[in-house]
Amino acid sequence: MSSNASIGFLDSGIGGVTVMKEAQKLLPNENYVYFSDSVNNPYGDKTDSEIIERCFEITRLLVDTKGCKAVMLACNTASAKAAASLRKAYPDTPIIAIEPAYKMAYDNNPDGFTLVMATRGTVNSEKFRRLFYTYYNHRTALLSCVGLADLIEQDRQEELAQYLEKTLGRYRGKAQNVVLGCTHYPLAKRQIRKVLGDVNFFDGSYGTSKRLANVLAEKDLLTERTEHGEIEFIDSSPSLEQKAQKKERFFSLLEESYD
Ligand code: DGL
Repeated sequence: MSSNASIGFLDSGIGGVTVMKEAQKLLPNENYVYFSDSVNNPYGDKTDSEIIERCFEITRLLVDTKGCKAVMLACNTASAKAAASLRKAYPDTPIIAIEPAYKMAYDNNPDGFTLVMATRGTVNSEKFRRLFYTYYNHRTALLSCVGLADLIEQDRQEELAQYLEKTLGRYRGKAQNVVLGCTHYPLAKRQIRKVLGDVNFFDGSYGTSKRLANVLAEKDLLTERTEHGEIEFIDSSPSLEQKAQKKERFFSLLEESYD
């Protein structure tokens, strides 16, 4: 495996941009191939076997066709459902998987009232349940946010504001920590703050990117290039127009601040 090969990223849409941003800061000279599976968005309500099948298809494209040296599952749902099977099938390729930063919230403020927001698929997964009950502090509300990633993916701002008010309004003045357990959710930080006020956000994007950097270093797979790398963006939308829209949104979010 060449150390100058690209790093593959996958998500059900543009949400993984929140992980790409951190990865690029740590590993700016790497080349990336980002796969946005828009046509199958959202993943949060799909069955385990549907998600595993999609992740295998995308990983085949990233590793076997594009020759990627590592794969970042920049999607909490895909990580919870497919990471173990992908690692078995690709023992020589580092498969890095994000997970909700519940431990990070616990380490930072063990007695604080914490909201954990994630897709239904992540909330119901065995992998997440194990993490959750290891750090459960009896002051946590676990919210399965059905449809939220979809509103963010489609940038439906008005419905997003209504959704957040309805789901989070009752925690206003009570929640101190908010775990953003889906890679789309950091894109709605400002809107969440509008409902909850000043809260501390936690997400796995930095930790997972750090893990990617460490694994590549351990395996001697960091690029030798000294100039800034590039990102190839691939989207599974059916029309060229939709593909172009996703691409434009992805690259503008990569430059923007959404804090
Ligand atoms: N961005 C994904 C996650 O982190 C999936 C969202 C969805 O498609 O439901 O879970």
